[in-house]
Amino acid sequence: MNTSHENLTDTWNANSDDYNRYSKEGLEDKKELEAWKSIMKEVFGDSPLKILDIGTGPGTIAIVLSEMGHEVTALDFSDSMLSHARANASARGAEVTFVKGDAADLPFSDNSFDAVISRNVLWTLPDPVKALTEWKRVISPDGKLTYIDGDWSNELNKSVKTRFKHLISSFLIRVTQREHVSRIQATCGKDLWSVSAERPAFDLNILNGLDLKDIRVSTGIDQRVYSGLRAWKYGYYSGTFLVECRK
Ligand SMILES: C[S@@+](CC[C@H](N)C(=O)[O-])C[C@H]1O[C@@H](n2cnc3c(N)ncnc32)[C@H](O)[C@@H]1O
Repeated sequence: MNTSHENLTDTWNANSDDYNRYSKEGLEDKKELEAWKSIMKEVFGDSPLKILDIGTGPGTIAIVLSEMGHEVTALDFSDSMLSHARANASARGAEVTFVKGDAADLPFSDNSFDAVISRNVLWTLPDPVKALTEWKRVISPDGKLTYIDGDWSNELNKSVKTRFKHLISSFLIRVTQREHVSRIQATCGKDLWSVSAERPAFDLNILNGLDLKDIRVSTGIDQRVYSGLRAWKYGYYSGTFLVECRK
């Protein structure tokens, strides 16, 4: 798989209907939505902030933050993802400004946001240092840089328990929605640095190198968020982590 910008954009466009089904199901799951709101409250507190959601996909985190009273801009390079995100936000009456752009070359000036958030995107970006440098650039001094990501490949390769749970997950996903969400990972992921990087140690090294402050990593995010059937389908990784730090 070639990881050129065009090829990655095509892959995400092609998989957006599938991904949107997974995301809409999550938005309609009250427990899951409340879990995300509680995590976001721990991260951003109660005061309204100007937040950028990078690689918003169908817009879940942007919608959650907007419903919590934040002023949210959400960026993605996939037209199909953005079109799903606009429809999802409008269906919920959530106010979000959607922008088409590249996560590693942001169309915003320096210090434009109080905070940046990104969920499950960094692993897909060919140059994580370039991306994180950009994410730092657009937040104001002392602003918050946060993201959620996972040690997807390593965990799957190393843990027999995770491989077994992954088999059950794949079966359930096929039975309940025919399409296989983690196909995206199988296609985009093979040639990326994230296949072999030990995370979050890899991330900490970059964040320290970029001179980011107050770095904190929390684990067990999927276990907090998914419940019921979705826990079997999507909650089998224990390696999902949340990074918080300041400029
Ligand atoms: C795994 S999805 C995550 C979507 C969303 N953050 C969520 O958690 O539901 C990755 C998203 O990142 C977007 N993406 C990948 N590379 C990107 C890039 N270079 N610039 C902008 N968006 C990108 C994809 O189009 C896709 O919507």
